[in-house]
Amino acid sequence: MAGLLDGKAALVTGGGNGIGRATALALAREGARVAVADYEGAAAESTVAAINAAGGQARSLTGDVTEEAAVQQMVQATVAAYGRLDCAFNNAGIAPHQVEASGQPTHAWSERSFDRLIAVNLKGVWLCMKHELAQMKAQGAGAIVNTASIAGLIGLQNACAYVASKHAVIGLTKTAALEYAKEKIRVNAVCPGFIRTRMTEQAFETRGMVLRAMTPQGRAGEPEEIAEMVVFLCSDRASYVTGAAYQVDGGWTAM
Ligand SMILES: NC(=O)c1ccc[n+]([C@@H]2O[C@H](COP(=O)([O-])OP(=O)(O)OC[C@H]3O[C@@H](n4cnc5c(N)ncnc54)[C@H](O)[C@@H]3O)[C@@H](O)[C@H]2O)c1
Repeated sequence: MAGLLDGKAALVTGGGNGIGRATALALAREGARVAVADYEGAAAESTVAAINAAGGQARSLTGDVTEEAAVQQMVQATVAAYGRLDCAFNNAGIAPHQVEASGQPTHAWSERSFDRLIAVNLKGVWLCMKHELAQMKAQGAGAIVNTASIAGLIGLQNACAYVASKHAVIGLTKTAALEYAKEKIRVNAVCPGFIRTRMTEQAFETRGMVLRAMTPQGRAGEPEEIAEMVVFLCSDRASYVTGAAYQVDGGWTAM
């Protein structure tokens, strides 16, 4: 049976763990050749090994999405390997606890924590889009999916830069969707709720019961449940979908 993404070439950032890893595997399952990029080279290689073991085609890339030269290299390496770039999942991101801002209300954040979080979650997505869009424009089509969050739609306490970055990712997504709609490039965002990954391990340990209680489905999401939305948005089945931000959150934002 044909895969939804047969013949397509994809790039996934943050593909070494969590949502990025599950999505890289799902894109490959649907027939895409996948460049798996991650700051942690060994993690990217582990995802590639899993894809290859399942009969897919993948290669690993490393680099920090906050550095333009590294991002340009990721896009160029994908195109050099696969000849084009049809789908891009801009997903690398960090949470407040990864910039020493865990549990901090807005006034308590340090400038350093704020800057680093915005650099990864916002500037990183823009840099990826910048280089992916140039390639997609040159080849005449493409689909981009950015990882926002329910924090791109609502406020969350003690996460000011995170919430700001994710709202901004939705803004970037809508802007690019308008700018490139006539060039057959679709740009969408996915807004996960609380998903069981390394990023949320600590939160589930300390506040798992509360988080489950706040989710109408009463459970955490799995990375694979985000991956299925990304596969759809990357595929031609989503041909009339652009500028959208889809919640995959067990009903969290319906409340
Ligand atoms: N887990 C959740 O509940 C949840 C909810 C909403 C949104 N998100 C978003 O989903 C995305 C993925 O998160 P996850 O939960 O899979 O986390 P994760 O920590 O499991 O994976 C994130 C990956 O991104 C990589 N990364 C981080 N900074 C990078 C950088 N500067 N350059 C390159 N790679 C970098 C990490 O090495 C890691 O492999 C993030 O953008 C996050 O904000 C997660």
